[in-house]
Amino acid sequence: MKAIYYDQPGSPDVLQVVNSEIPVPNDNQILIKVMAAGVNRPDVIQRQGNYPPPENHSPILGLEVSGYIEKIGKNVKNFSLNNKVAALVNGGGYAEFCLAEQESTFKIPGDLSFNEAACIPECYFTAWSNLVQRGRLTKNQKVLIHGGTSGIGIAAIQIAKIFNSYIITTVGNEEKAKFCKNLGVNEVINYKKQDFFEIIKKSDVKNVNLILDYVGGEYILKNINLLDTEGTLVNIGFLEGSTAQINLMKIMLKRLQITGSTLRIRSNKFKGQVLSELKKFVFPLLVERKIMCFVDSVFKFDDVIKAHERIDEGKHIGKIILNP
Ligand SMILES: NC(=O)c1ccc[n+]([C@@H]2O[C@H](COP(=O)([O-])OP(=O)(O)OC[C@H]3O[C@@H](n4cnc5c(N)ncnc54)[C@H](OP(=O)(O)O)[C@@H]3O)[C@@H](O)[C@H]2O)c1
Repeated sequence: MKAIYYDQPGSPDVLQVVNSEIPVPNDNQILIKVMAAGVNRPDVIQRQGNYPPPENHSPILGLEVSGYIEKIGKNVKNFSLNNKVAALVNGGGYAEFCLAEQESTFKIPGDLSFNEAACIPECYFTAWSNLVQRGRLTKNQKVLIHGGTSGIGIAAIQIAKIFNSYIITTVGNEEKAKFCKNLGVNEVINYKKQDFFEIIKKSDVKNVNLILDYVGGEYILKNINLLDTEGTLVNIGFLEGSTAQINLMKIMLKRLQITGSTLRIRSNKFKGQVLSELKKFVFPLLVERKIMCFVDSVFKFDDVIKAHERIDEGKHIGKIILNP
Protein backbone atom coordinates (compact mmCIF):
# COMPACT_ATOMS: atom_id res chain seq x y z
CA MET A 1 0.00 0.00 0.00
CA LYS A 2 0.94 3.64 -0.39
CA ALA A 3 1.85 5.39 2.86
CA ILE A 4 3.46 8.68 3.78
CA TYR A 5 6.72 8.41 5.60
CA TYR A 6 9.82 10.38 6.53
CA ASP A 7 13.36 9.25 7.34
CA GLN A 8 14.45 12.30 9.34
CA PRO A 9 12.22 14.88 11.07
CA GLY A 10 12.09 18.34 9.56
CA SER A 11 10.18 20.68 7.23
CA PRO A 12 7.26 19.45 5.05
CA ASP A 13 9.59 18.31 2.25
CA VAL A 14 10.84 15.38 4.38
CA LEU A 15 7.47 13.72 3.67
CA GLN A 16 7.43 11.13 0.91
CA VAL A 17 5.04 8.54 -0.47
CA VAL A 18 6.48 5.03 0.00
CA ASN A 19 5.31 1.45 -0.39
CA SER A 20 4.52 -0.23 2.89
CA GLU A 21 3.02 -3.52 4.11
CA ILE A 22 -0.76 -3.54 4.66
CA PRO A 23 -1.17 -3.90 8.46
CA VAL A 24 -2.96 -6.96 9.84
CA PRO A 25 -5.73 -6.43 12.44
CA ASN A 26 -5.63 -8.36 15.71
CA ASP A 27 -8.81 -9.93 17.09
CA ASN A 28 -10.07 -6.58 18.46
CA GLN A 29 -9.09 -4.36 15.56
CA ILE A 30 -10.58 -3.15 12.30
CA LEU A 31 -8.66 -2.58 9.06
CA ILE A 32 -9.98 0.51 7.25
CA LYS A 33 -9.51 1.17 3.54
CA VAL A 34 -8.79 4.88 3.92
CA MET A 35 -10.76 7.35 1.81
CA ALA A 36 -9.76 10.46 3.78
CA ALA A 37 -7.32 11.30 6.56
CA GLY A 38 -7.31 14.46 8.70
CA VAL A 39 -4.17 16.56 9.06
CA ASN A 40 -3.69 17.84 12.60
CA ARG A 41 -1.18 20.08 14.36
CA PRO A 42 0.13 17.08 16.36
CA ASP A 43 1.17 15.55 12.97
CA VAL A 44 3.27 18.67 12.34
CA ILE A 45 4.86 18.45 15.78
CA GLN A 46 5.59 14.74 15.16
CA ARG A 47 7.05 15.51 11.71
CA GLN A 48 9.33 18.09 13.36
CA GLY A 49 10.60 15.40 15.75
CA ASN A 50 9.01 16.84 18.89
CA TYR A 51 6.15 14.37 19.44
CA PRO A 52 7.43 10.81 18.96
CA PRO A 53 4.71 8.15 18.65
CA PRO A 54 4.15 6.29 21.94
CA GLU A 55 5.38 2.68 22.12
CA ASN A 56 3.36 0.29 19.93
CA HIS A 57 1.81 3.16 17.93
CA SER A 58 2.39 3.32 14.16
CA PRO A 59 5.32 5.56 13.15
CA ILE A 60 3.26 6.63 10.11
CA LEU A 61 1.60 10.04 10.67
CA GLY A 62 -2.16 10.47 10.90
CA LEU A 63 -4.49 10.31 13.91
CA GLU A 64 -7.88 10.09 12.17
CA VAL A 65 -9.35 8.46 9.08
CA SER A 66 -12.58 7.68 7.33
CA GLY A 67 -13.24 4.91 4.82
CA TYR A 68 -14.64 1.40 4.32
CA ILE A 69 -14.09 -1.58 6.59
CA GLU A 70 -11.75 -3.95 4.75
CA LYS A 71 -11.22 -6.59 7.50
CA ILE A 72 -12.44 -7.18 11.03
CA GLY A 73 -10.94 -9.07 13.95
CA LYS A 74 -13.00 -11.96 15.34
CA ASN A 75 -13.88 -10.15 18.61
CA VAL A 76 -15.14 -7.00 16.89
CA LYS A 77 -18.84 -6.43 17.46
CA ASN A 78 -21.39 -4.19 15.72
CA PHE A 79 -19.39 -3.67 12.51
CA SER A 80 -19.37 -5.51 9.17
CA LEU A 81 -17.25 -5.46 6.03
CA ASN A 82 -17.73 -2.38 3.82
CA ASN A 83 -19.37 -0.33 6.58
CA LYS A 84 -18.58 3.36 6.08
CA VAL A 85 -16.70 4.36 9.22
CA ALA A 86 -14.41 6.95 10.75
CA ALA A 87 -11.92 6.36 13.54
CA LEU A 88 -9.55 7.97 15.96
CA VAL A 89 -6.33 6.00 15.42
CA ASN A 90 -2.94 5.57 17.08
CA GLY A 91 -1.01 6.81 14.04
CA GLY A 92 -0.97 5.24 10.60
CA GLY A 93 -3.71 7.44 9.10
CA TYR A 94 -1.62 8.72 6.17
CA ALA A 95 -1.86 5.37 4.37
CA GLU A 96 -4.19 3.47 2.03
CA PHE A 97 -5.05 1.07 4.87
CA CYS A 98 -5.09 1.84 8.58
CA LEU A 99 -5.71 -0.15 11.75
CA ALA A 100 -8.34 1.11 14.18
CA GLU A 101 -9.50 -0.08 17.59
CA GLN A 102 -13.20 -0.96 17.78
CA GLU A 103 -13.67 1.37 20.80
CA SER A 104 -12.73 4.46 18.79
CA THR A 105 -14.37 3.56 15.48
CA PHE A 106 -17.87 4.71 14.54
CA LYS A 107 -20.25 4.50 11.60
CA ILE A 108 -20.29 7.80 9.74
CA PRO A 109 -23.23 9.84 11.02
CA GLY A 110 -25.98 10.74 8.52
CA ASP A 111 -24.92 11.63 5.00
CA LEU A 112 -21.55 13.13 5.87
CA SER A 113 -18.93 12.69 3.13
CA PHE A 114 -15.68 10.86 3.82
CA ASN A 115 -13.86 14.21 3.84
CA GLU A 116 -16.30 15.62 6.39
CA ALA A 117 -16.19 12.49 8.56
CA ALA A 118 -12.38 12.63 8.67
CA CYS A 119 -12.70 16.05 10.38
CA ILE A 120 -14.44 14.56 13.42
CA PRO A 121 -12.33 12.14 15.50
CA GLU A 122 -9.23 13.99 16.71
CA CYS A 123 -10.93 17.34 17.27
CA TYR A 124 -14.23 16.18 18.75
CA PHE A 125 -12.71 13.55 21.07
CA THR A 126 -10.21 16.19 22.27
CA ALA A 127 -12.63 19.13 22.55
CA TRP A 128 -15.38 17.08 24.26
CA SER A 129 -13.11 15.36 26.77
CA ASN A 130 -11.36 18.60 27.73
CA LEU A 131 -14.32 20.98 27.80
CA VAL A 132 -16.97 18.69 29.22
CA GLN A 133 -15.12 16.05 31.20
CA ARG A 134 -12.03 17.94 32.45
CA GLY A 135 -13.51 21.44 32.21
CA ARG A 136 -16.89 20.39 33.66
CA LEU A 137 -18.69 22.71 31.23
CA THR A 138 -22.25 23.38 32.30
CA LYS A 139 -25.07 25.47 30.80
CA ASN A 140 -24.78 29.27 30.41
CA GLN A 141 -21.12 29.65 31.37
CA LYS A 142 -18.64 32.14 29.92
CA VAL A 143 -16.04 30.23 27.89
CA LEU A 144 -12.81 31.47 26.26
CA ILE A 145 -11.55 29.29 23.42
CA HIS A 146 -8.17 30.31 22.01
CA GLY A 147 -7.50 29.87 18.30
CA GLY A 148 -11.12 29.64 17.16
CA THR A 149 -10.54 28.62 13.54
CA SER A 150 -8.23 25.67 14.24
CA GLY A 151 -9.74 22.21 13.91
CA ILE A 152 -9.87 22.08 17.70
CA GLY A 153 -11.24 25.62 18.01
CA ILE A 154 -14.14 25.02 15.61
CA ALA A 155 -15.08 21.79 17.38
CA ALA A 156 -14.84 23.45 20.81
CA ILE A 157 -16.99 26.41 19.74
CA GLN A 158 -19.72 24.14 18.40
CA ILE A 159 -19.65 21.99 21.55
CA ALA A 160 -19.85 25.11 23.75
CA LYS A 161 -22.92 26.19 21.77
CA ILE A 162 -24.70 22.99 22.88
CA PHE A 163 -24.30 24.31 26.43
CA ASN A 164 -25.59 27.78 25.52
CA SER A 165 -22.19 29.22 26.55
CA TYR A 166 -21.23 32.85 26.13
CA ILE A 167 -18.28 32.21 23.81
CA ILE A 168 -15.19 34.38 23.35
CA THR A 169 -12.45 33.37 20.94
CA THR A 170 -9.09 34.64 19.71
CA VAL A 171 -8.02 34.61 16.04
CA GLY A 172 -5.14 35.98 13.96
CA ASN A 173 -6.90 37.89 11.16
CA GLU A 174 -10.17 39.49 10.08
CA GLU A 175 -11.23 36.66 7.74
CA LYS A 176 -10.98 34.26 10.67
CA ALA A 177 -12.85 36.73 12.89
CA LYS A 178 -15.72 36.86 10.38
CA PHE A 179 -15.84 33.07 10.20
CA CYS A 180 -16.12 32.77 13.99
CA LYS A 181 -18.84 35.43 14.15
CA ASN A 182 -20.82 33.44 11.54
CA LEU A 183 -20.32 30.34 13.66
CA GLY A 184 -22.15 32.09 16.50
CA VAL A 185 -19.25 33.25 18.69
CA ASN A 186 -20.29 36.16 20.91
CA GLU A 187 -16.96 38.00 20.96
CA VAL A 188 -14.01 37.54 18.62
CA ILE A 189 -10.66 39.13 19.44
CA ASN A 190 -7.92 39.52 16.84
CA TYR A 191 -4.98 38.80 19.13
CA LYS A 192 -2.53 40.29 16.68
CA LYS A 193 -4.18 43.70 17.04
CA GLN A 194 -5.58 43.62 20.55
CA ASP A 195 -4.63 42.15 23.92
CA PHE A 196 -7.37 39.62 24.70
CA PHE A 197 -6.80 40.07 28.45
CA GLU A 198 -7.32 43.85 28.34
CA ILE A 199 -10.36 43.58 26.05
CA ILE A 200 -12.13 41.05 28.27
CA LYS A 201 -11.25 42.81 31.54
CA LYS A 202 -12.57 46.14 30.21
CA SER A 203 -15.76 44.61 28.78
CA ASP A 204 -18.94 43.82 30.69
CA VAL A 205 -17.86 40.16 30.71
CA LYS A 206 -14.73 40.81 32.86
CA ASN A 207 -13.96 37.16 33.61
CA VAL A 208 -14.73 33.69 32.35
CA ASN A 209 -15.59 30.32 33.87
CA LEU A 210 -13.63 28.06 31.53
CA ILE A 211 -10.66 28.52 29.16
CA LEU A 212 -9.47 26.03 26.54
CA ASP A 213 -5.94 26.96 25.50
CA TYR A 214 -3.20 25.42 23.37
CA VAL A 215 -1.02 28.54 23.09
CA GLY A 216 0.54 28.73 26.58
CA GLY A 217 3.54 31.07 26.93
CA GLU A 218 2.43 34.53 28.01
CA TYR A 219 -1.21 33.37 27.82
CA ILE A 220 -0.75 31.25 30.96
CA LEU A 221 -0.81 34.12 33.48
CA LYS A 222 -3.40 36.09 31.50
CA ASN A 223 -5.66 33.04 31.46
CA ILE A 224 -5.32 32.51 35.21
CA ASN A 225 -6.07 36.19 35.87
CA LEU A 226 -9.17 36.05 33.67
CA LEU A 227 -10.75 33.12 35.49
CA ASP A 228 -13.72 33.75 37.71
CA THR A 229 -14.01 32.06 41.15
CA GLU A 230 -14.13 28.26 40.72
CA GLY A 231 -12.96 28.72 37.11
CA THR A 232 -11.00 26.12 35.13
CA LEU A 233 -8.06 26.46 32.74
CA VAL A 234 -7.54 23.48 30.44
CA ASN A 235 -4.32 23.40 28.43
CA ILE A 236 -4.13 20.95 25.57
CA GLY A 237 -0.98 22.32 23.96
CA PHE A 238 1.76 24.89 24.34
CA LEU A 239 2.55 26.42 20.95
CA GLU A 240 4.33 29.32 22.72
CA GLY A 241 5.87 27.41 25.63
CA SER A 242 4.78 25.61 28.78
CA THR A 243 6.56 27.48 31.56
CA ALA A 244 5.40 30.44 33.64
CA GLN A 245 5.97 31.84 37.11
CA ILE A 246 2.64 31.47 38.88
CA ASN A 247 1.49 32.93 42.18
CA LEU A 248 -0.47 30.01 43.63
CA MET A 249 -2.22 32.41 46.02
CA LYS A 250 -4.64 33.33 43.21
CA ILE A 251 -5.44 29.67 42.64
CA MET A 252 -6.12 29.18 46.33
CA LEU A 253 -8.20 32.35 46.78
CA LYS A 254 -10.27 31.87 43.60
CA ARG A 255 -10.45 28.06 44.06
CA LEU A 256 -9.24 27.58 40.47
CA GLN A 257 -8.57 24.32 38.68
CA ILE A 258 -5.64 24.15 36.27
CA THR A 259 -5.62 20.99 34.22
CA GLY A 260 -4.89 19.55 30.81
CA SER A 261 -4.57 16.29 28.93
CA THR A 262 -3.29 14.59 25.80
CA LEU A 263 -5.58 12.24 23.97
CA ARG A 264 -3.22 9.91 22.15
CA ILE A 265 -1.88 8.05 25.17
CA ARG A 266 -5.31 7.42 26.70
CA SER A 267 -6.71 3.88 26.91
CA ASN A 268 -9.14 2.34 24.41
CA LYS A 269 -11.66 2.21 27.27
CA PHE A 270 -11.38 5.96 27.86
CA LYS A 271 -11.72 6.72 24.14
CA GLY A 272 -14.77 4.44 24.02
CA GLN A 273 -16.36 6.42 26.88
CA VAL A 274 -15.76 9.70 25.06
CA LEU A 275 -17.22 8.23 21.87
CA SER A 276 -20.37 7.12 23.67
CA GLU A 277 -20.94 10.73 24.84
CA LEU A 278 -20.24 12.10 21.36
CA LYS A 279 -22.78 9.67 19.91
CA LYS A 280 -25.37 10.89 22.38
CA PHE A 281 -24.80 14.65 22.31
CA VAL A 282 -22.87 15.57 19.14
CA PHE A 283 -23.66 13.04 16.39
CA PRO A 284 -27.41 13.82 16.26
CA LEU A 285 -26.46 17.46 15.62
CA LEU A 286 -23.98 16.42 12.91
CA VAL A 287 -26.77 14.44 11.23
CA GLU A 288 -29.04 17.51 11.31
CA ARG A 289 -26.07 19.65 10.23
CA LYS A 290 -26.53 21.88 13.22
CA ILE A 291 -22.89 21.03 13.91
CA MET A 292 -20.82 21.39 10.73
CA CYS A 293 -17.52 19.95 9.53
CA PHE A 294 -15.51 22.69 7.83
CA VAL A 295 -13.07 21.35 5.25
CA ASP A 296 -10.42 23.99 4.45
CA SER A 297 -8.73 22.05 1.64
CA VAL A 298 -8.22 18.56 0.25
CA PHE A 299 -4.87 17.25 -1.05
CA LYS A 300 -3.91 14.00 -2.76
CA PHE A 301 -1.25 11.86 -1.02
CA ASP A 302 1.21 12.90 -3.75
CA ASP A 303 0.68 16.52 -2.61
CA VAL A 304 1.22 15.81 1.10
CA ILE A 305 4.06 18.35 1.18
CA LYS A 306 1.61 21.06 0.06
CA ALA A 307 -0.88 19.93 2.73
CA HIS A 308 1.79 20.31 5.44
CA GLU A 309 2.95 23.64 4.01
CA ARG A 310 -0.65 24.83 4.28
CA ILE A 311 -0.95 23.85 7.97
CA ASP A 312 2.53 25.27 8.72
CA GLU A 313 1.48 28.58 7.14
CA GLY A 314 -1.53 28.77 9.51
CA LYS A 315 -3.93 30.46 7.06
CA HIS A 316 -6.36 27.54 7.03
CA ILE A 317 -9.85 27.74 8.48
CA GLY A 318 -11.06 24.29 9.51
CA LYS A 319 -9.53 21.01 8.51
CA ILE A 320 -6.96 20.03 5.92
CA ILE A 321 -7.73 16.59 4.47
CA LEU A 322 -5.60 14.04 2.59
CA ASN A 323 -7.05 11.61 0.04
CA PRO A 324 -5.05 8.50 -0.94
N1 LIG B 1 -3.84 17.56 24.00
C1 LIG B 1 -4.44 16.92 23.02
O1 LIG B 1 -4.96 15.81 23.19
C2 LIG B 1 -4.51 17.56 21.66
C3 LIG B 1 -5.17 16.91 20.60
C4 LIG B 1 -5.24 17.57 19.37
C5 LIG B 1 -4.64 18.83 19.22
N2 LIG B 1 -4.00 19.38 20.27
C6 LIG B 1 -3.38 20.71 20.14
O2 LIG B 1 -4.38 21.65 19.82
C7 LIG B 1 -3.82 22.67 19.02
C8 LIG B 1 -4.68 22.88 17.80
O3 LIG B 1 -4.57 21.76 16.94
P1 LIG B 1 -5.22 21.81 15.48
O4 LIG B 1 -4.82 20.56 14.79
O5 LIG B 1 -6.65 22.14 15.61
O6 LIG B 1 -4.39 23.04 14.91
P2 LIG B 1 -4.52 23.94 13.62
O7 LIG B 1 -5.79 23.67 12.88
O8 LIG B 1 -3.23 23.85 12.93
O9 LIG B 1 -4.64 25.41 14.24
C9 LIG B 1 -3.64 26.03 14.97
C10 LIG B 1 -4.01 27.52 14.96
O10 LIG B 1 -3.49 28.13 16.12
C11 LIG B 1 -3.63 29.50 15.92
N3 LIG B 1 -2.68 30.22 16.75
C12 LIG B 1 -1.35 30.21 16.67
N4 LIG B 1 -0.82 31.04 17.60
C13 LIG B 1 -1.88 31.56 18.27
C14 LIG B 1 -2.01 32.49 19.34
N5 LIG B 1 -0.92 33.06 19.87
N6 LIG B 1 -3.26 32.78 19.82
C15 LIG B 1 -4.35 32.23 19.28
N7 LIG B 1 -4.28 31.35 18.23
C16 LIG B 1 -3.06 31.02 17.74
C17 LIG B 1 -3.36 29.73 14.44
O11 LIG B 1 -4.44 30.50 13.91
P3 LIG B 1 -4.35 32.12 13.92
O12 LIG B 1 -4.15 32.60 12.53
O13 LIG B 1 -5.66 32.54 14.47
O14 LIG B 1 -3.19 32.49 14.76
C18 LIG B 1 -3.39 28.31 13.85
O15 LIG B 1 -4.14 28.23 12.67
C19 LIG B 1 -2.38 22.28 18.75
O16 LIG B 1 -1.54 22.93 19.67
C20 LIG B 1 -2.37 20.78 19.02
O17 LIG B 1 -1.10 20.32 19.39
C21 LIG B 1 -3.92 18.78 21.48
